[in-house]
Amino acid sequence: MAIADRAESVPKQTTVSRDTFTTRLGVIAATLGSAVGLGNIWKFPYLTGANGGAAFIIVYLLCTLVVGLPVMITEHVIGRTAREDAIASLKKLAPGKAWWLIGASGILASFLIMAFYTEVAAWVFAYIVKAVQGAILSTDPAVTEAAFADLVSSPVQSLVWQWIVLAFIASIIALGVSKGIERMTKRLMPALFGILIIVVIRSITLPGAGQGLEFLLKPDFSKVTGATVLTALGLSFFKLSVGMGTMITYGSYFLDDQDIPSTATRVMLSDVMVSFLAGLAIFPAVFAFGFQPESGPSLLFITIPAVFSSMPFGQVFMILFFVLTAIAATGAMLSLFEVPVAYLEGTLNWSRKKATIAVMIGLAIVGSTAALSESLLAHIRFGGIGTFFDLWDYLTSNVLLPVGGLFLCVFAGWVLRWDKLKQWLSNNGTLDNEGVVRGYYWIVKYVTPILVLIILLTGLGII
Ligand code: PHE
Repeated sequence: MAIADRAESVPKQTTVSRDTFTTRLGVIAATLGSAVGLGNIWKFPYLTGANGGAAFIIVYLLCTLVVGLPVMITEHVIGRTAREDAIASLKKLAPGKAWWLIGASGILASFLIMAFYTEVAAWVFAYIVKAVQGAILSTDPAVTEAAFADLVSSPVQSLVWQWIVLAFIASIIALGVSKGIERMTKRLMPALFGILIIVVIRSITLPGAGQGLEFLLKPDFSKVTGATVLTALGLSFFKLSVGMGTMITYGSYFLDDQDIPSTATRVMLSDVMVSFLAGLAIFPAVFAFGFQPESGPSLLFITIPAVFSSMPFGQVFMILFFVLTAIAATGAMLSLFEVPVAYLEGTLNWSRKKATIAVMIGLAIVGSTAALSESLLAHIRFGGIGTFFDLWDYLTSNVLLPVGGLFLCVFAGWVLRWDKLKQWLSNNGTLDNEGVVRGYYWIVKYVTPILVLIILLTGLGII
């Protein structure tokens, strides 16, 4: 295998004082850990369910290929070259220019995403306990709906579970990049794949699973509108954790001789595979027991428990399913948490512990808006978007990340330009990948920015 062949040529890390990932496998585990998350198991299925199935998946895959992947490569190469946090990396590569604002918007985005993300994770953690207790074991969606409503409408339960999640993530972050993030994701990723396969096999072998497969595989393009395409684009940014400096931050921990285009491609492919497997775990079972897939964000918390309760050994599969979801959410939250921590540590010279505690407190404050959005703050609504929870979700996926990604592409294609990118992406000529880099360069310079701009303007109703 190519990875092993090159193992002896690992150059020494350039910076001694900065903690980084230590092995190629560690880089992949952490990066994939960031990409795979609630996006695959919660967002992808409910958006697919709500937007007509296979047609939505096709649009999403196209966006991932032409937008998500090139932006990911761009972020990795910026981070690995500058070896600084998201803001400082852009300042280093474009001194005296305003490009660092992309990093600043990324830090804002990481707070806003974490605000609702930690709340969904909070429900998942709470559901593991409920599943073990058998509290959500009912084939009647009215019962599981009541259980979910009980959780989200309780300010105390919502906040406390969110704090538990935050404290858990903070305790890993405080251990550092290699001893915390890398070590954790290296253990979690294989477990995630293992459990996912078990649940998929259960789902697709149920009698009546065929309808769910058809839903996933047979496109109906009549359901695709401008807003749907923006949703698919937003999902492709969110899914690959790009457009906000997460991948710049992680790229800054990459090995000097990491093959960036190949790493990013592998992560993208594995991520798409996890989403598809999550779809296979969910839809065949949903259809097999006569449920509807369009229920939106609550699909995971209302429909799924009822679905699992309908099958033999349902409780076991339900526990496995929510543990799987918690694992996925953990790797993603680590990367979201790391963005501001890296900035406080790198640019403001704070100790890692102090930075972690400060970010945790900041996230608890911002996150409370999402945690309380179905209780104390339920009366605050933002036009057609919804509550605080929905606002942060919409604003990040459909505005901040695409805009960040757009500027990153312009930065790569028109500021960094060919010579530098070729040199950096070929690891100073040690990789024989000029064709790949040329293709990437052409796409990132012309295709991605124009496409993102058009989708943004149409999706937001501006043109
Ligand atoms: N990619 C993660 C997921 O799919 C979410 C995420 C977005 C993580 C942005 C980091 C940055 O769940």
